[in-house]
Amino acid sequence: MRTDTGQVFRLEDYRPSDYHIPLTDLTFRLSPDSTRVISELTIERRDGISGTPPLVLDGDGLVLKRVELDGKALAPSAYEATPESLVIANPPAGKRFRLLIETEIAPSQNQALMGLYRSNGVYCTQCEAEGFRRITYFLDRPDILSVYTVRIEAKRDEAPLLLANGNPGERGDLGDGRHFAVWHDPFPKPSYLFALVAGDLGLVSDSFVTASGREVALAIYVEHGKERLATYAMDSLKRSMRWDEEVFGREYDLDVFNIVAVSDFNMGAMENKGLNVFNDKYVLADEETATDADFANIEAIIAHEYFHNWTGNRITCRDWFQLCLKEGLTVFRDHEFSADQRSRAVKRIAEVRTLRAHQFPEDQGPLAHPVRPRRYREINNFYTATVYEKGSEVVRMIRTILGADMFRKGMDLYFERHDGDAATIEDFLQVFEDASGRDLSQFALWYHQAGTPNVTVAASHNAASNEFTLEIEQSVPPTPSESRKRLMHIPLAFGLVGQDGKDIAYAAVDGASVEDGVIHLRKRRHVVTFSGVAERPAISLNRGFSAPITLSIEQKPEDLMFLARHDGDAFSRWQAFNTLLTDALIAATRNVLGGKKPAFAKELVELAGIIAGDETLEHAFRALAISLPGEADIARDIGANIDPDAIHAAREALVGAIAETNQSHFKALYEKLGASGSFSPDATSAGRRALRNVLLDYLSILPHGEMLAADHFSAATNMTDRAAALMVLAHRHPKSAEAVNALAAFEEKYRSDALVMDKWFQIQAAMPGQDAVDLVRRLTAHPAFSMANPNRVRSLIGTFASANQTGFHRADGTGYKFFVETVLAVEKRNPQVAARLATALRSWRSLEPGRQAKAREALLAISAAENLSADLRDIVERTLA
Ligand code: ARG
Ligand code: ZN
Repeated sequence: MRTDTGQVFRLEDYRPSDYHIPLTDLTFRLSPDSTRVISELTIERRDGISGTPPLVLDGDGLVLKRVELDGKALAPSAYEATPESLVIANPPAGKRFRLLIETEIAPSQNQALMGLYRSNGVYCTQCEAEGFRRITYFLDRPDILSVYTVRIEAKRDEAPLLLANGNPGERGDLGDGRHFAVWHDPFPKPSYLFALVAGDLGLVSDSFVTASGREVALAIYVEHGKERLATYAMDSLKRSMRWDEEVFGREYDLDVFNIVAVSDFNMGAMENKGLNVFNDKYVLADEETATDADFANIEAIIAHEYFHNWTGNRITCRDWFQLCLKEGLTVFRDHEFSADQRSRAVKRIAEVRTLRAHQFPEDQGPLAHPVRPRRYREINNFYTATVYEKGSEVVRMIRTILGADMFRKGMDLYFERHDGDAATIEDFLQVFEDASGRDLSQFALWYHQAGTPNVTVAASHNAASNEFTLEIEQSVPPTPSESRKRLMHIPLAFGLVGQDGKDIAYAAVDGASVEDGVIHLRKRRHVVTFSGVAERPAISLNRGFSAPITLSIEQKPEDLMFLARHDGDAFSRWQAFNTLLTDALIAATRNVLGGKKPAFAKELVELAGIIAGDETLEHAFRALAISLPGEADIARDIGANIDPDAIHAAREALVGAIAETNQSHFKALYEKLGASGSFSPDATSAGRRALRNVLLDYLSILPHGEMLAADHFSAATNMTDRAAALMVLAHRHPKSAEAVNALAAFEEKYRSDALVMDKWFQIQAAMPGQDAVDLVRRLTAHPAFSMANPNRVRSLIGTFASANQTGFHRADGTGYKFFVETVLAVEKRNPQVAARLATALRSWRSLEPGRQAKAREALLAISAAENLSADLRDIVERTLA
């Protein structure tokens, strides 16, 4: 484990390297405890460098066995090797030289899961961001692009399968039970995209013919016996490949595309060139074991990693500050793919919910950073919702501003101009300026300035002059180390909705530039006047969530109710109802805190019933619309002095009110939707299940609700329905015999299926109330739980800390105490996973004073621990700052 050096890396310090590595030839002699890595590098001094500056190669925990320069052993005085670097003080004067480096590593002892490690008997690698330096000494930075040839040698029975990037080459026998395979990747790539996999795995194969008629062999490798579970992933891959040709004109470029599923993985998946490595949770699925959400995630992540082949691999990042160049853009691409495969409106609502749940709190708390950060201590801590999700929103805004055709022109230019480059955000913005002739300099602030902009709007209608006026003001709140903010270019999509539900045409507009239904805010304040507007419209703002902002506007409940039914933009329809629900929940929380019983407007409660039953709307939309904001959403909107118990009580009260009022209607609808017959994972069928399961959640709060949920559980023929019923039982009727029995039955049935047991852990970790912390502590001793496996840790500990508001933030601080112990225990093996867990306390300053003090103690306790990793220290210190 790398302990913290306190070093800060700054964007402005970027310098190109003095040396390049055009060719990298690697030989791996695999063995669990002592693998030899022989790296033969062709190194070139960069043009324009005078003299022979020292060559400084990165390492991390390496043991050097041999070093040769141009075929001759290097004298010990000619280099200096530590675990962290290999320095050659006086490299040869010629432009090119060859360096051979042999290191020894122990994959079986690698618990940090960065570099080369062994998971369930399979050798695999994870090199992004800085894992390659745990394999061999290298210029381990993304602007060093090299052509790799990789030879893998291993025992045939231990690893019949030998994979690396690129196309397969020679293979053969080495005698005494060993064999080898050679792989060559013709595309120069950075070291973070290197990958190797070796083991004994089952194969699912298929093929794809590209638009220009080249045949690509597709393969997904999984644990033997699980081949059947990769069907949906393979189907998603082929759809992704076709879509990228059709929508972005991007064809695949190698003869093979391989995906490997592994069970110990720090992240979701990794886009290594031609050899994607996946967390098996995002590959394996069937109706018996995976939920509809799992299917949707698999489709999205398979697409995401595939799309990286062009946005990430062919065009990579100059340095890690540019991470959003590949991540924000690739998330945008996978969002668009899913929108095309499913329902665009439903997908957009889900994206915005995720953005608000994960990115907004980050942007509004101590860990806020720009989409393109300017400094970091540990780059692994910057694989954040801001870089990924807000990064995607920024690309979406570029498309909104330019229009779809000009956006596509800009993307074409990007691929044409930068193929083979390690590029920057400036390069990216430039192609859109060049393609469109637009000035994006103010817009660029979205990359450079942290914080969620707030837009305040006051609307008025003058019936005498037929004018409708919007007074609009923007502000960006201060964020760590950025107290003064500049004014942003905010594209605000809007509509003036008339009494017939249609958008009103206006004669002219003044006060801001308005194009294609978008107001372009560029100044602090705009007074936008629409003339020729005879009737007072309901204003629909930030349609489709055109900008990732918060909006403050006084709107009459009648207007919101009207928009919730009639807005022409489906997202805004959802938003209007969600705003009503949020306002009601905030008021109810205030009531609970004041010792009063929460009360809810009859119209609101009835509207939930109307939307639920509206046959003109998709099932999935209805399900999303009537799902109440989560406890964390409500907390975020309240913003300060948070008491999670009061929020929980208020939310349950609204569930109860909606359920009681709509009881017979919901029951009839629930019955009508019926148990699903034969299963299909498509979006329409999933939407139907989603609506039925939301209805179950409401009905379960009524008398005998536990019996209805128990029936739902035992009648379920797929995991979506089964897990939904189990959750309702465990969360709403935890003490009931029905809940106890269902949890036991589920455990009994799936005890040997790790991914399904994750759901069992998750459901219990999220169980509201005082008892959760003891339960979660007990579950850490369950035989299916392991501190060494990231999926188990995230399911049990991660869910408890980030999705259990009442349990984790228990007023006496025992939730935090347990958390400190666990984070430190995880950190011993895996600092990256521990650091991610620790972000659960980022919003500690919004808590009420008692909990705030206890959360602070917890953070201080972590920071006081000895030998803290750079990963965890960075998070904890920024959180406390
Ligand atoms: N590039 C990968 C992806 O977005 C994720 C890698 C995450 N790496 C990390 N060190 N956290 O698909
Ligand atoms: Zn990515």
